[in-house]
Amino acid sequence: MKRQVRKAVFPVAGLGTRFLPATKASPKEMLPIVDKPLIQYGVEEAVAAGVDTLVFIIGRTKNAIADHFDKAYELEVELETRGKTDLLQIVRNIVPSGVECVYVRQAEALGLGHAVLCARPVVGDEPFAVILADDLIEEDTREGGALSQMARHFNKYQCSILGVERVPKEETQKYGIVHPLPFANRISNVDSIVEKPKPENAPSNLAVVGRYILTPRIFDLLATIPRGAGNEIQLTDGIAALLGEEQVLAYEFSGRRHDCGSKLGYLVATVEYGARHPELGERFQAYLRANAHRLDPSASTTED
Ligand code: G1P
Repeated sequence: MKRQVRKAVFPVAGLGTRFLPATKASPKEMLPIVDKPLIQYGVEEAVAAGVDTLVFIIGRTKNAIADHFDKAYELEVELETRGKTDLLQIVRNIVPSGVECVYVRQAEALGLGHAVLCARPVVGDEPFAVILADDLIEEDTREGGALSQMARHFNKYQCSILGVERVPKEETQKYGIVHPLPFANRISNVDSIVEKPKPENAPSNLAVVGRYILTPRIFDLLATIPRGAGNEIQLTDGIAALLGEEQVLAYEFSGRRHDCGSKLGYLVATVEYGARHPELGERFQAYLRANAHRLDPSASTTED
C-alpha cells in the first residue's frame, strides 16, 4: 500500500539569537511577515500538502506557539461583540478543522537532528515532513507550495525527499549541501550530503532549504549517530546515514524562497509580501515609489 505524508514536524525550539532581543520571550518563528507569523505560513503550506497532524517541537519560549494555535475564547467573544466578523473568521481559521496540533518539549537544545528525534513518539512508523518555518517559500501559482510539490513526488517514489535550491558557491557554509546524481527533471539521487561545508569542500551548490520528507528509519539513525558540527545532533548526519540504506532524492522545488533566519532575508520578505498584500499592497508600493530618496539618499528623484 502506498504511504502518504500526514504529519509535519516543526522544530521551533531554537534560540533565535540573530533576532535578539525580539526573540527573547518568543520564538523566531512567531516573527510576523506583515500580519502573519512565519510559523503560520509553514502550517498553511503543510495543510495544503495534505498534512493533518502538526507536531511542534518547542523549547523555552513554549507558550507563544501553543497560544497562537489554540482557541482564544476571550478574543473571539470580544471580536464578536464588536461585530468584527472578518477578524473573527481569521482568528478562528488559523487551524482548519480536522487538523490536530501536538506539542513536544525539547528539554535540551541538542540540535536539529535531536529536535526531529523528539517527534518520534508522535510520528511513529510513518513518513513525515519537516518544515523549518524561517525558510519562507512562496507558493508557486501553477505547482502549489513546496511541500505539496514534494508530497506529489513522495506519492510516486515512496522515499525520502529533500527540498533543495541552488545557492551561490560562497554560501555553502550556511546549508546542508548534497552531491546530486541526475534522476529526473529537477530531481536528483542524493549520493552524499554534508553539513555546512566550506565552498572549496562543497560537493555542489545544491542546498537543502528547510523542507524534508523523511521515512521513519531516520529516527533509528538519529538515535545512534554521534554529535556532529557544533557538537549537535545534526539532521544532515542522520540523512547521510540513511543514504547508506535507502534511496534519498533531492527535489528543486518551484517557488521563491526567503531566508527569514537572516535579518536581510526577513526584511526583503516583509517588503515583498507587503507590496503584494491585498489590503495595503497598492499604498505600500506607492510609498516605496515616492520615497526612494528617503530609503536610499543616493537615489535621485524627480523632485530633486
Ligand atoms: C539547518 C540545517 C541545514 C539546512 C538549513 C536550511 O541549518 O542544519 O542543513 O540547510 O537548516 O535552512 P540552520 O539554518 O538551522 O543553521
